[in-house]
Amino acid sequence: GTSMTLFEAVGGEPTFRKLVDEFYAGVATDPLLRPMYPEEDLGPAADRFALFLMQYWGGPNTYSAQRGHPRLRMRHAPFRIGAAERDAWLHHMRRAVDRLDLPPEIAGALWDYLERAAYFMVNVPADP
Ligand code: HEM
Repeated sequence: GTSMTLFEAVGGEPTFRKLVDEFYAGVATDPLLRPMYPEEDLGPAADRFALFLMQYWGGPNTYSAQRGHPRLRMRHAPFRIGAAERDAWLHHMRRAVDRLDLPPEIAGALWDYLERAAYFMVNVPADP
């Protein structure tokens, strides 16, 4: 129905956990992205990201209960995110979204948000 959140429409938490697990499996192998993650274990970062996405799309507010206001640009300020990092991030995310086999309009909504958010997170100017 029209009142269903995207969180509900995709199948709730298991779908977001799968998305983030697939995404981090890609990050784990990425020579540009992997060294950016401060912790040796990517599990806690994956958990934070899954909780954030669930909250954003209308699921439980566990992310903010644990972490406070998202302030994502501020939280990414310690990391150098240029076009190459953004594109690598989006590469792994595209694969992860595709693996969910969602209906096209739902996958499209999810992807549009993720792509815009990734562009928004860039914090170093493009090369001249
Ligand atoms: C955290 C990299 C884009 C959501 C992080 C961390 C890194 C990182 C290195 C720290 C890992 C941790 O300890 O949690 C990047 C890069 C991006 C990017 C290279 C490329 C554009 C995004 C986007 C979103 C996002 C587009 C949201 C749609 C998050 C969240 C956290 C996080 C929720 C955890 C924040 C916290 O509560 O501490 N990211 N990120 N990131 N990222 Fe990103």
